Amino acid sequence: MTEISTPSNITNEELIKFVTESAELCKPDSVYWCDGSQEEYDRLCQEMVDAGTFIKLNAKKRPNSFLARSHPSDVARVEDRTYICSIAKGDAGPTNNWMAPSEMKAILKEKFDGCMAGRTMYVVPFCMGPIGSPISQFGVEITDSPYVAVNMRTMTRMGQRALDALGHGEFTKCLHSVGMPLAEGQADVAWPCSPDPKDKYIVHFPEENSIVSYGSGYGGNALLGKKCLALRIASNLGRAQGWLAEHMLIVGVESPDGKKDYVCAAFPSACGKTNFAMLIPPKAFQEEGWKITTVGDDIAWIKPDEKGKLRAINPEYGFFGVAPGTNYSTNPNAMESIKENTIFTNVALTDDGDVWWEGMDGEPPAHAIDWQGNDWTPSSDAKAAHPNARFTAPITQCPVVDENFDSPAGVPVSAFIFGGRRNSVVPLIQQSFNWAFGVYMAATMGSEMTAAAFGNIGEVRRDPFAMLPFCGYHMGDYFGHWLNFGRQIPDPPRIFSVNWFLKGEDGKFLWPGYGDNMRVLKWVIERSRGVSKGSETPLGWMPRYDDIDWRGLDFSRKQWDEVMNLDRDMWLKEIAMHDDLFFKLYDRLPKEMTYIRELLVSNLWRSPELGLAPSRPEAEPEQLKAAGKGE
Ligand code: GTP
Ligand code: SPV
Ligand code: MN
Repeated sequence: MTEISTPSNITNEELIKFVTESAELCKPDSVYWCDGSQEEYDRLCQEMVDAGTFIKLNAKKRPNSFLARSHPSDVARVEDRTYICSIAKGDAGPTNNWMAPSEMKAILKEKFDGCMAGRTMYVVPFCMGPIGSPISQFGVEITDSPYVAVNMRTMTRMGQRALDALGHGEFTKCLHSVGMPLAEGQADVAWPCSPDPKDKYIVHFPEENSIVSYGSGYGGNALLGKKCLALRIASNLGRAQGWLAEHMLIVGVESPDGKKDYVCAAFPSACGKTNFAMLIPPKAFQEEGWKITTVGDDIAWIKPDEKGKLRAINPEYGFFGVAPGTNYSTNPNAMESIKENTIFTNVALTDDGDVWWEGMDGEPPAHAIDWQGNDWTPSSDAKAAHPNARFTAPITQCPVVDENFDSPAGVPVSAFIFGGRRNSVVPLIQQSFNWAFGVYMAATMGSEMTAAAFGNIGEVRRDPFAMLPFCGYHMGDYFGHWLNFGRQIPDPPRIFSVNWFLKGEDGKFLWPGYGDNMRVLKWVIERSRGVSKGSETPLGWMPRYDDIDWRGLDFSRKQWDEVMNLDRDMWLKEIAMHDDLFFKLYDRLPKEMTYIRELLVSNLWRSPELGLAPSRPEAEPEQLKAAGKGE
């Protein structure tokens, strides 16, 4: 029997029961309660260095930072092994894997029986969101991975302070094992996991507020506060309690007059949330006094306050960002954030003990050790870093972290932006007519699966609200929750759609992106304030060339027409394709989706000669106010 000594200051009975029962089932060698201190972090990191899991990086170049290399079978979230085990199958909906809770529990019971043999069981208490915020949630992750424990310290408010704030309150039970028990005398490996792809389980029991994860030590599979709690479980809590848990960054925008707005933006995984959350405005904007600040780069929890004003918090405390492609020109603030106290996973190791990845600044190193531990040179066929290599860094190290990032009250939300990755069809920027049209737009966003031939729509993977892998219940009900939510707040934020990824016939991006996205963001902010102009189109409101601030960028009217083009026939095809999603969700699809689809077709149904480009005369500010702002 494992010796379980509960620290004397722990009196939460549910917690004691959870730890005791987990230890009895998993049979670890010992149980360790994490306090979240620096001393503990340093000690666990050193233990991992000694065990070969961590490589300590050159302390001059990358102070207090480490590199981990995962098993090649364990490099990303495993969506096909992710389950929503609601009691009723219909509640999980057709976009989630489902199994009856009793059936799943029988499997898991067998998997977890003795699964921590030869290992330490870490008890990791954490708080998602600022401690003391009415929107925050507690969790306790039980894990046999010290890698998870140290990552959780960076990614969440972890340890004693979370325990103290939890008191006798409720928490999400998170049980995690890498799924590799050690027999008596068996040596450990650097990255223990269950290498059989079918032998991994990422399981959510929404009605029980619990999560069980087996077989993987990587990212969202294992850091259970992130996608499992903060999105899949929280989306269920939010629906029941009247709030939103979203795959969104939160960015602050201050204009030269000192006014500040916050925007929440949803882009699918690896579509630029981290970049947008900390973008560097073009020089002319900076000189004039525009400032960008970061509240969060991946997840937002949004709740109306007593007056009905939406307020957002970032439930996380760190960044778990994609490394490849990050450099001082694409994202200098991310580069500054990872200068020290950072855990790198699956990047390359340089000969001077620093890290490297494809798309980092400067010349590639003449020699490095790749993410699998092999020699690498620029002429190697293999990639030096895995494409999903990531860094774990404290948000407090971000040079532009927002002054309110840790505020229990959260920040007020002025606008929502949704953006997929589309080569064609979806224009650079548009504003939906109203909340319900915005919900339709977000529900039908998607990303091209295959490189589409120009003028054709490739196979589009619909990723509603960038939440396809993260919505913990029926997606049709989720659309309904958004519609209801908007009805219950007096002045809902405006909803916008963007697409940074349009490509020309030559396959090159048509829009410069990155810092230049500020030009679009400025229009969004000013539209939300009711001051900037736009033109009505069949799909929504769009800026004209002269509505955008072009200082410092050479972008012609012809280029603008390309990125803002609305092709009537392509759009009719596109809307027809929305039915694939709607038919899939038919049993719980809100009727608004069908009606709005009809309205869009009706708007588009005009002679092709008329064209669709924004062509109306400029609206006067008063008209604008009446039409768009409704104040
Ligand atoms: P997760 O952490 O996986 O949720 O993703 P994320 O949305 O934070 O992704 P991330 O910021 O790491 O996305 C990086 C990818 O987006 C890279 O491939 C970038 O090149 C691309 N990207 C980001 N911003 C832009 C942009 O403005 N234009 C273009 N063309 N690509 C961009
Ligand atoms: C994503 O995939 O959207 C991520 C990375 O943010 S992970 O935490 O691994 O899910
Ligand atoms: Mn994400």
